[in-house]
Amino acid sequence: MIPLCIPEVKGNEWKYVKECIDTNWVSSVGSYVNLFEEKFAEYVKAEKAVVTMNGTAALQLALITLGIGEGDEVILPSMTFISPVNTIKYVGAVPVFCDSCRDTFVMDAEKIEELITPKTKAIMPVHIYGHPVDMDKLMEIANKYNLYVIEDATEALGSTYKGNMLGTIGHIGAFSFNGNKLITTGAGGMLVTQNTEYGERAKFLSTQTKVVTENKAFYHPEVGYNFRMPNLLAAFGVAQLENVEEYLKVKIENAKYYNELLKDVKGITLPVEKEWAENCYWLYSVMVEDEYGITRDELIAKLKEEGIESRPFFMAVHEMPPYKDCKHGDMSITKELCNKGINLPSSVSLTKEQIEEVCKVIRKYSK
Ligand SMILES: Cc1ncc(COP(=O)(O)O)c(C=O)c1O
Repeated sequence: MIPLCIPEVKGNEWKYVKECIDTNWVSSVGSYVNLFEEKFAEYVKAEKAVVTMNGTAALQLALITLGIGEGDEVILPSMTFISPVNTIKYVGAVPVFCDSCRDTFVMDAEKIEELITPKTKAIMPVHIYGHPVDMDKLMEIANKYNLYVIEDATEALGSTYKGNMLGTIGHIGAFSFNGNKLITTGAGGMLVTQNTEYGERAKFLSTQTKVVTENKAFYHPEVGYNFRMPNLLAAFGVAQLENVEEYLKVKIENAKYYNELLKDVKGITLPVEKEWAENCYWLYSVMVEDEYGITRDELIAKLKEEGIESRPFFMAVHEMPPYKDCKHGDMSITKELCNKGINLPSSVSLTKEQIEEVCKVIRKYSK
Protein backbone atom coordinates (compact mmCIF):
# COMPACT_ATOMS: atom_id res chain seq x y z
CA MET A 1 0.00 0.00 0.00
CA ILE A 2 1.27 3.49 -0.81
CA PRO A 3 0.03 5.44 2.23
CA LEU A 4 -1.43 8.93 2.10
CA CYS A 5 0.98 10.57 4.51
CA ILE A 6 3.04 8.83 7.18
CA PRO A 7 5.65 10.20 9.61
CA GLU A 8 9.36 10.28 8.89
CA VAL A 9 11.46 9.36 11.94
CA LYS A 10 15.15 9.09 11.16
CA GLY A 11 17.08 11.62 13.21
CA ASN A 12 17.94 12.12 16.87
CA GLU A 13 14.49 11.13 18.18
CA TRP A 14 15.69 8.02 20.07
CA LYS A 15 18.71 9.80 21.51
CA TYR A 16 16.78 12.78 22.88
CA VAL A 17 13.83 10.74 24.19
CA LYS A 18 16.26 8.31 25.86
CA GLU A 19 17.96 11.25 27.54
CA CYS A 20 14.59 12.28 29.06
CA ILE A 21 14.05 8.74 30.35
CA ASP A 22 17.60 8.38 31.65
CA THR A 23 17.39 11.69 33.53
CA ASN A 24 13.77 11.13 34.65
CA TRP A 25 12.62 14.40 33.01
CA VAL A 26 9.64 12.81 31.30
CA SER A 27 6.77 15.07 32.29
CA SER A 28 5.52 18.54 31.45
CA VAL A 29 8.51 20.59 32.45
CA GLY A 30 12.07 20.08 31.26
CA SER A 31 14.78 21.50 29.06
CA TYR A 32 13.34 20.05 25.83
CA VAL A 33 10.03 21.89 26.36
CA ASN A 34 11.92 25.20 26.46
CA LEU A 35 14.28 24.19 23.65
CA PHE A 36 11.43 23.10 21.34
CA GLU A 37 9.68 26.44 21.89
CA GLU A 38 12.89 28.41 21.28
CA LYS A 39 13.94 26.47 18.19
CA PHE A 40 10.45 26.54 16.70
CA ALA A 41 10.11 30.30 17.23
CA GLU A 42 13.51 30.71 15.58
CA TYR A 43 12.48 28.56 12.59
CA VAL A 44 9.24 30.38 11.84
CA LYS A 45 10.70 33.76 12.91
CA ALA A 46 8.16 34.41 15.66
CA GLU A 47 8.82 36.37 18.86
CA LYS A 48 7.32 33.67 21.05
CA ALA A 49 6.19 30.04 20.76
CA VAL A 50 4.11 28.10 23.30
CA VAL A 51 4.00 24.33 22.96
CA THR A 52 0.67 22.53 23.50
CA MET A 53 -0.66 18.97 23.60
CA ASN A 54 -2.12 19.25 20.08
CA GLY A 55 -3.00 21.76 17.38
CA THR A 56 -6.61 21.98 18.52
CA ALA A 57 -5.44 23.10 21.97
CA ALA A 58 -3.17 25.72 20.33
CA LEU A 59 -6.17 27.15 18.45
CA GLN A 60 -8.39 27.13 21.55
CA LEU A 61 -5.61 28.77 23.54
CA ALA A 62 -5.30 31.47 20.87
CA LEU A 63 -9.01 32.29 21.17
CA ILE A 64 -8.88 32.41 24.98
CA THR A 65 -5.70 34.50 24.96
CA LEU A 66 -7.38 37.10 22.75
CA GLY A 67 -10.47 37.14 24.95
CA ILE A 68 -12.82 35.74 22.31
CA GLY A 69 -15.89 34.22 23.97
CA GLU A 70 -19.64 34.10 24.44
CA GLY A 71 -21.56 35.28 21.36
CA ASP A 72 -18.53 36.61 19.44
CA GLU A 73 -18.52 35.71 15.75
CA VAL A 74 -15.44 34.24 14.09
CA ILE A 75 -15.20 33.94 10.30
CA LEU A 76 -13.50 30.86 8.84
CA PRO A 77 -13.81 28.51 5.85
CA SER A 78 -16.26 25.64 5.71
CA MET A 79 -13.89 23.48 3.65
CA THR A 80 -11.56 22.63 6.52
CA PHE A 81 -10.80 19.90 9.02
CA ILE A 82 -13.38 20.46 11.76
CA SER A 83 -10.90 21.25 14.55
CA PRO A 84 -10.76 25.08 14.21
CA VAL A 85 -14.57 25.22 14.02
CA ASN A 86 -14.91 23.19 17.21
CA THR A 87 -12.50 25.45 19.10
CA ILE A 88 -14.76 28.43 18.36
CA LYS A 89 -17.65 26.48 19.87
CA TYR A 90 -15.55 25.48 22.92
CA VAL A 91 -15.15 29.15 23.93
CA GLY A 92 -18.85 29.94 23.41
CA ALA A 93 -18.25 31.91 20.21
CA VAL A 94 -20.07 31.40 16.91
CA PRO A 95 -18.50 30.24 13.63
CA VAL A 96 -19.51 32.07 10.44
CA PHE A 97 -18.56 30.25 7.24
CA CYS A 98 -16.85 31.76 4.22
CA ASP A 99 -16.47 30.26 0.74
CA SER A 100 -13.10 29.15 -0.65
CA CYS A 101 -11.05 29.79 -3.79
CA ARG A 102 -11.23 27.16 -6.52
CA ASP A 103 -7.56 27.35 -7.46
CA THR A 104 -5.84 27.53 -4.05
CA PHE A 105 -8.51 25.62 -2.03
CA VAL A 106 -8.27 28.14 0.84
CA MET A 107 -10.71 30.73 2.21
CA ASP A 108 -11.56 33.45 -0.30
CA ALA A 109 -10.41 36.73 1.28
CA GLU A 110 -12.57 38.66 -1.20
CA LYS A 111 -15.71 37.14 0.37
CA ILE A 112 -14.95 37.91 4.03
CA GLU A 113 -16.18 41.50 4.26
CA GLU A 114 -19.80 40.66 3.40
CA LEU A 115 -19.94 38.34 6.46
CA ILE A 116 -18.86 40.96 9.01
CA THR A 117 -21.43 42.11 11.59
CA PRO A 118 -21.09 44.17 14.81
CA LYS A 119 -20.54 40.83 16.60
CA THR A 120 -17.55 39.79 14.48
CA LYS A 121 -14.44 39.56 16.64
CA ALA A 122 -11.96 37.54 14.62
CA ILE A 123 -11.04 35.88 11.34
CA MET A 124 -9.49 32.43 11.32
CA PRO A 125 -7.81 31.71 7.98
CA VAL A 126 -6.96 28.03 7.50
CA HIS A 127 -4.05 27.45 5.12
CA ILE A 128 -5.54 24.21 3.81
CA TYR A 129 -3.15 21.57 2.41
CA GLY A 130 -0.32 24.12 2.51
CA HIS A 131 -1.29 27.02 0.24
CA PRO A 132 -1.58 30.42 1.94
CA VAL A 133 -4.75 32.47 2.18
CA ASP A 134 -4.31 35.92 0.58
CA MET A 135 -3.07 37.48 3.82
CA ASP A 136 -2.64 41.10 2.60
CA LYS A 137 -6.30 41.30 1.64
CA LEU A 138 -7.34 39.52 4.84
CA MET A 139 -5.22 41.77 7.10
CA GLU A 140 -6.56 44.87 5.34
CA ILE A 141 -10.12 43.80 6.26
CA ALA A 142 -9.06 42.84 9.80
CA ASN A 143 -7.45 46.25 10.31
CA LYS A 144 -10.42 48.10 8.83
CA TYR A 145 -12.88 46.42 11.24
CA ASN A 146 -10.46 46.02 14.17
CA LEU A 147 -10.62 42.22 14.16
CA TYR A 148 -8.18 39.64 15.50
CA VAL A 149 -6.58 37.18 13.10
CA ILE A 150 -5.77 33.64 14.25
CA GLU A 151 -3.97 31.68 11.55
CA ASP A 152 -4.59 27.95 11.45
CA ALA A 153 -1.23 27.00 9.98
CA THR A 154 -1.47 23.40 11.16
CA GLU A 155 -1.17 22.11 7.59
CA ALA A 156 1.24 24.74 6.37
CA LEU A 157 4.50 24.55 8.30
CA GLY A 158 7.19 25.91 5.99
CA SER A 159 4.81 27.68 3.58
CA THR A 160 5.33 31.41 3.14
CA TYR A 161 3.31 34.44 2.10
CA LYS A 162 5.47 37.14 0.47
CA GLY A 163 8.47 35.62 2.24
CA ASN A 164 6.88 35.45 5.71
CA MET A 165 6.25 32.11 7.36
CA LEU A 166 2.56 31.32 7.68
CA GLY A 167 1.35 31.49 11.26
CA THR A 168 3.37 34.63 11.98
CA ILE A 169 1.34 37.18 9.99
CA GLY A 170 -1.85 37.40 12.08
CA HIS A 171 -2.02 38.11 15.82
CA ILE A 172 -1.54 34.44 16.70
CA GLY A 173 -0.82 31.31 14.65
CA ALA A 174 -1.23 27.61 15.44
CA PHE A 175 0.60 24.48 14.26
CA SER A 176 -0.03 20.75 14.70
CA PHE A 177 2.46 17.91 15.14
CA ASN A 178 -0.06 15.14 14.58
CA GLY A 179 1.41 12.04 12.93
CA ASN A 180 0.52 13.09 9.38
CA LYS A 181 2.02 16.59 9.58
CA LEU A 182 5.36 17.78 8.13
CA ILE A 183 7.00 17.15 11.50
CA THR A 184 5.40 15.16 14.29
CA THR A 185 5.58 14.53 18.02
CA GLY A 186 2.93 11.81 17.86
CA ALA A 187 0.47 14.42 19.07
CA GLY A 188 1.34 18.02 19.72
CA GLY A 189 0.87 21.63 18.75
CA MET A 190 2.43 25.08 18.94
CA LEU A 191 1.04 28.59 19.33
CA VAL A 192 3.20 31.35 17.85
CA THR A 193 2.97 35.12 17.96
CA GLN A 194 4.95 38.27 17.27
CA ASN A 195 3.38 39.88 20.34
CA THR A 196 5.27 38.86 23.49
CA GLU A 197 2.37 39.93 25.71
CA TYR A 198 0.05 37.45 23.95
CA GLY A 199 2.79 34.83 24.10
CA GLU A 200 3.33 35.20 27.82
CA ARG A 201 -0.40 35.23 28.50
CA ALA A 202 -0.85 32.07 26.41
CA LYS A 203 1.90 30.30 28.36
CA PHE A 204 0.34 31.38 31.67
CA LEU A 205 -3.15 30.20 30.62
CA SER A 206 -1.82 26.89 29.29
CA THR A 207 -0.09 26.08 32.58
CA GLN A 208 -3.12 26.44 34.90
CA THR A 209 -2.31 30.16 35.55
CA LYS A 210 0.09 28.82 38.16
CA VAL A 211 1.92 31.31 40.36
CA VAL A 212 4.42 29.76 42.79
CA THR A 213 4.43 31.61 46.11
CA GLU A 214 7.47 32.18 48.32
CA ASN A 215 6.77 29.03 50.36
CA LYS A 216 6.32 27.06 47.08
CA ALA A 217 2.54 26.79 47.24
CA PHE A 218 0.47 27.26 44.05
CA TYR A 219 -1.75 30.30 43.63
CA HIS A 220 -4.13 30.67 40.64
CA PRO A 221 -5.53 34.16 40.02
CA GLU A 222 -7.92 33.00 37.25
CA VAL A 223 -9.23 29.88 35.51
CA GLY A 224 -6.40 28.15 33.67
CA TYR A 225 -5.90 25.12 31.42
CA ASN A 226 -3.53 22.18 31.23
CA PHE A 227 -2.51 22.33 27.58
CA ARG A 228 1.12 21.38 28.23
CA MET A 229 3.27 19.01 26.19
CA PRO A 230 5.51 16.58 28.11
CA ASN A 231 9.30 16.84 27.86
CA LEU A 232 9.39 13.37 26.23
CA LEU A 233 7.39 14.59 23.24
CA ALA A 234 9.18 17.93 23.09
CA ALA A 235 12.47 15.98 22.82
CA PHE A 236 11.00 14.09 19.87
CA GLY A 237 9.94 17.43 18.38
CA VAL A 238 13.40 18.98 18.68
CA ALA A 239 14.82 16.02 16.74
CA GLN A 240 12.10 16.35 14.08
CA LEU A 241 12.69 20.07 13.72
CA GLU A 242 16.36 19.41 12.93
CA ASN A 243 15.17 17.81 9.66
CA VAL A 244 12.31 20.13 8.76
CA GLU A 245 14.07 21.87 5.88
CA GLU A 246 15.04 18.57 4.28
CA TYR A 247 11.45 17.26 4.59
CA LEU A 248 10.09 20.47 3.12
CA LYS A 249 12.45 20.26 0.15
CA VAL A 250 11.34 16.68 -0.55
CA LYS A 251 7.63 17.62 -0.41
CA ILE A 252 8.15 20.49 -2.86
CA GLU A 253 10.20 18.32 -5.23
CA ASN A 254 7.56 15.58 -5.11
CA ALA A 255 4.82 18.11 -5.91
CA LYS A 256 6.82 19.31 -8.92
CA TYR A 257 7.21 15.73 -10.14
CA TYR A 258 3.47 15.09 -9.75
CA ASN A 259 2.78 18.31 -11.70
CA GLU A 260 5.10 17.22 -14.49
CA LEU A 261 3.52 13.78 -14.82
CA LEU A 262 -0.10 15.00 -14.58
CA LYS A 263 0.09 18.27 -16.51
CA ASP A 264 -1.55 16.99 -19.68
CA VAL A 265 -4.06 14.55 -18.14
CA LYS A 266 -7.49 15.61 -19.36
CA GLY A 267 -9.90 16.41 -16.55
CA ILE A 268 -7.28 16.79 -13.84
CA THR A 269 -6.69 20.33 -12.55
CA LEU A 270 -3.32 20.77 -10.88
CA PRO A 271 -2.70 22.77 -7.71
CA VAL A 272 -1.45 26.32 -8.18
CA GLU A 273 1.16 28.39 -6.41
CA LYS A 274 0.29 32.09 -6.51
CA GLU A 275 3.14 34.50 -7.24
CA TRP A 276 3.04 35.64 -3.59
CA ALA A 277 3.11 32.12 -2.18
CA GLU A 278 5.47 29.30 -1.40
CA ASN A 279 3.42 26.15 -0.91
CA CYS A 280 4.80 23.42 1.38
CA TYR A 281 2.49 20.96 -0.43
CA TRP A 282 1.65 19.21 2.83
CA LEU A 283 -0.86 17.10 0.90
CA TYR A 284 -0.48 17.17 -2.88
CA SER A 285 -4.05 17.70 -4.14
CA VAL A 286 -5.81 17.92 -7.49
CA MET A 287 -9.37 18.46 -8.77
CA VAL A 288 -11.11 15.67 -10.70
CA GLU A 289 -13.22 17.59 -13.20
CA ASP A 290 -16.42 16.49 -14.98
CA GLU A 291 -14.49 15.84 -18.21
CA TYR A 292 -12.24 13.25 -16.52
CA GLY A 293 -13.27 9.67 -17.35
CA ILE A 294 -14.70 8.70 -13.94
CA THR A 295 -15.83 10.57 -10.81
CA ARG A 296 -13.55 11.57 -7.94
CA ASP A 297 -14.99 8.83 -5.72
CA GLU A 298 -14.60 6.22 -8.46
CA LEU A 299 -10.97 7.29 -8.85
CA ILE A 300 -10.42 6.87 -5.08
CA ALA A 301 -11.80 3.31 -5.40
CA LYS A 302 -9.60 2.54 -8.43
CA LEU A 303 -6.51 3.85 -6.65
CA LYS A 304 -7.37 1.68 -3.65
CA GLU A 305 -7.64 -1.39 -5.91
CA GLU A 306 -4.09 -0.66 -7.04
CA GLY A 307 -2.86 -0.34 -3.45
CA ILE A 308 -2.80 3.45 -3.35
CA GLU A 309 -4.33 5.42 -0.50
CA SER A 310 -5.97 8.74 -1.32
CA ARG A 311 -8.61 10.89 0.36
CA PRO A 312 -11.42 13.19 -0.72
CA PHE A 313 -11.20 16.85 0.34
CA PHE A 314 -12.79 17.74 3.67
CA MET A 315 -16.59 17.77 3.68
CA ALA A 316 -18.29 21.16 4.14
CA VAL A 317 -18.57 21.81 7.89
CA HIS A 318 -21.53 24.18 7.49
CA GLU A 319 -23.63 21.15 6.45
CA MET A 320 -22.74 19.03 9.47
CA PRO A 321 -25.25 18.66 12.35
CA PRO A 322 -23.49 20.81 15.00
CA TYR A 323 -23.04 23.72 12.57
CA LYS A 324 -25.89 23.50 10.05
CA ASP A 325 -27.67 26.52 11.57
CA CYS A 326 -24.61 28.80 11.46
CA LYS A 327 -24.46 31.77 9.12
CA HIS A 328 -22.61 31.46 5.82
CA GLY A 329 -22.23 33.17 2.48
CA ASP A 330 -22.56 31.64 -0.98
CA MET A 331 -20.91 28.21 -0.81
CA SER A 332 -20.79 27.20 -4.48
CA ILE A 333 -16.99 26.88 -4.68
CA THR A 334 -16.84 25.04 -1.37
CA LYS A 335 -19.31 22.48 -2.74
CA GLU A 336 -17.24 21.95 -5.87
CA LEU A 337 -14.03 21.54 -3.89
CA CYS A 338 -15.65 19.05 -1.52
CA ASN A 339 -17.03 16.99 -4.43
CA LYS A 340 -14.04 17.07 -6.77
CA GLY A 341 -10.88 17.47 -4.68
CA ILE A 342 -8.57 14.56 -3.91
CA ASN A 343 -5.41 14.30 -1.79
CA LEU A 344 -2.73 12.04 -3.24
CA PRO A 345 0.11 10.22 -1.41
CA SER A 346 2.42 12.83 0.05
CA SER A 347 4.72 11.20 2.61
CA VAL A 348 8.29 12.47 2.83
CA SER A 349 9.37 8.85 2.18
CA LEU A 350 7.39 8.68 -1.10
CA THR A 351 9.67 7.55 -3.94
CA LYS A 352 9.76 8.77 -7.55
CA GLU A 353 8.64 5.29 -8.63
CA GLN A 354 5.62 5.49 -6.33
CA ILE A 355 4.66 8.89 -7.76
CA GLU A 356 4.93 7.38 -11.25
CA GLU A 357 2.68 4.49 -10.15
CA VAL A 358 0.02 6.87 -8.79
CA CYS A 359 0.10 9.00 -11.95
CA LYS A 360 -0.11 5.93 -14.18
CA VAL A 361 -3.41 4.94 -12.55
CA ILE A 362 -4.75 8.51 -12.84
CA ARG A 363 -3.78 8.65 -16.51
CA LYS A 364 -5.38 5.24 -17.18
CA TYR A 365 -8.89 6.47 -16.29
CA SER A 366 -8.71 9.79 -18.14
CA LYS A 367 -11.04 9.97 -21.18
C1 LIG B 1 -6.73 22.44 9.45
C2 LIG B 1 -6.45 21.78 10.76
N1 LIG B 1 -6.66 22.47 11.89
C3 LIG B 1 -6.41 21.94 13.09
C4 LIG B 1 -5.94 20.65 13.23
C5 LIG B 1 -5.80 20.10 14.60
O1 LIG B 1 -4.58 19.61 14.94
P1 LIG B 1 -4.48 18.41 16.00
O2 LIG B 1 -4.91 17.17 15.34
O3 LIG B 1 -3.02 18.41 16.36
O4 LIG B 1 -5.34 18.77 17.17
C6 LIG B 1 -5.69 19.89 12.06
C7 LIG B 1 -5.17 18.53 12.05
O5 LIG B 1 -4.96 17.66 12.60
C8 LIG B 1 -5.96 20.47 10.80
O6 LIG B 1 -5.77 19.77 9.67
